[in-house]
This record gives sequence, structure tokens and C-alpha cells, in this order.
Amino acid sequence: MMRLDKFLCDCRAGTRSEVKKYIKQGAISVNGVIAKRPEVKIDEAKDQITFHGKLLEYEKFSYYMLYKEAGYVTAVSDSRHKTVMEELPENLRGVLTPVGRLDQDTEGLLLLTNDGAFTHHILSPTHHVEKTYEAKLDNPVPPTAVEDFSRGIDIGDEDLTLPAELVILPDVIFDDGTREYGARLTISEGRYHQVKRMFSTVGCKVIGLKRLSIHTLTLEGLSPGEYRKLTPEEVQSLWGEANHM
Ligand code: URA
Repeated sequence: MMRLDKFLCDCRAGTRSEVKKYIKQGAISVNGVIAKRPEVKIDEAKDQITFHGKLLEYEKFSYYMLYKEAGYVTAVSDSRHKTVMEELPENLRGVLTPVGRLDQDTEGLLLLTNDGAFTHHILSPTHHVEKTYEAKLDNPVPPTAVEDFSRGIDIGDEDLTLPAELVILPDVIFDDGTREYGARLTISEGRYHQVKRMFSTVGCKVIGLKRLSIHTLTLEGLSPGEYRKLTPEEVQSLWGEANHM
């Protein structure tokens, strides 16, 4: 059992004050009867709550993905920089928190949730959830790095990095003859600035970084700055990946 206004907020119908207003306006019904009081207790498992006639489904936890744009810091609040929360609608801010972090100048796939156990599972180094990044580099990657990265390398931490898969991409040659170098790197841990530090060991500075995927979840269908809810299957798959490794 829970208060109606809490239920409505959890269903992302609006903020606490907005949902109180909706109740006052008669927009909310409980089992077909217009609700009058925000504090009325409802059973989220049994009662049928509608908002302007549309049935609301109660979800304790929410899971979203965002195509983070470069320039936003991965934080809930920051006094100097714009945060990834500003890329989300107001009703999700204050509810979700980022799962791990991407650097301010990194773009790509960022998960957000209010499920602390899920966050812990995805980030825990013992669970080895794979993340794939595409890097633009100032120098060509030496081919020997493929073998080195697959064995694990010293990036100045106590332990070597876990085995990582490196794919060197063809150079992009511009009209003026200048070249851009690129590589795709899949890692299964999330150390501080890990991708940048790994490339720096082979003499390459990362000049652009994008996270393409986490486990089987990709950016497909999203443009920079767009977000969407994960499907129950996607959430399950991420949990499963974490649980079984
Ligand atoms: N590795 C980095 O160096 N930066 C990121 O944002 C993510 C992984």
C-alpha cells in the first residue's frame, strides 16, 4: 500500500506538486472513481489507477539510456558545468542517477537508473560487463597493441588491465591529405580514464571518444542528446550478464 501521490510520482506522471494539481482537477481515478485526496492509500499491485483515462503501470525502478553529448558532465548536479541530467526531462531529474561516468568530452551510451543494486552490478569489477568505445586518435595505433591489450597492460595501477579487444580502424583521409586515426576498444572494467590511459601507453592521445555499447545494448535508433527507457528484456539481459559472470 502507498499514498496515491507517491504512486503517481513513481509512475512519472509528474512532480509531487503537479500530481496534486492533477488530483484536484479530477484527472486521476482509482478503480473507476475520481480520486479527491493525494494522501489516500492505494494498493499498487491491485488497484487500477488512471490518468486522463490512461491506465498507469507501477514500476518500482526505472532504467533509461541516454546518448550523452560531449560537453556534459556525468553528475546529478554541478555548480559550473551542465550535467547529463539536463539532457533528460524534468520528471526524470531527481529520480535517476547515472550508472558510472563518461568524461565530459566523451559522448555515447550512458545508463541511468534509481536501482542501486543494478548500478552496483553493472559497475562491480567482478561482473565484467563489456563496454565498447570508438576512439579518434592523434597517431596511428601500433599493430602490436592488439596483442598487448589482449594480454593486459600496465597503465600505472596496481594490477594490469583485464584482457581487452582492440580493432584498429582504417585511416580516414581528408581532401587536404590529413589523416584521422581510429580504433575500437572493448573493455570489461571501468577504471578512471581507462580508455585514454590505455591508448596513451602506445603513444596515442584520444582526441574523440564515444561509447558505442554496453553488453548487447547499442545506440541504435538514438541521436545525440536523445534518451529512451530500456525494455524489460534489455534490463534482464544486463542483469543476467552481471549475474552470470
Ligand atoms: N575511458 C575514458 O578514458 N573516458 C571515458 O569517458 C570512458 C572510458
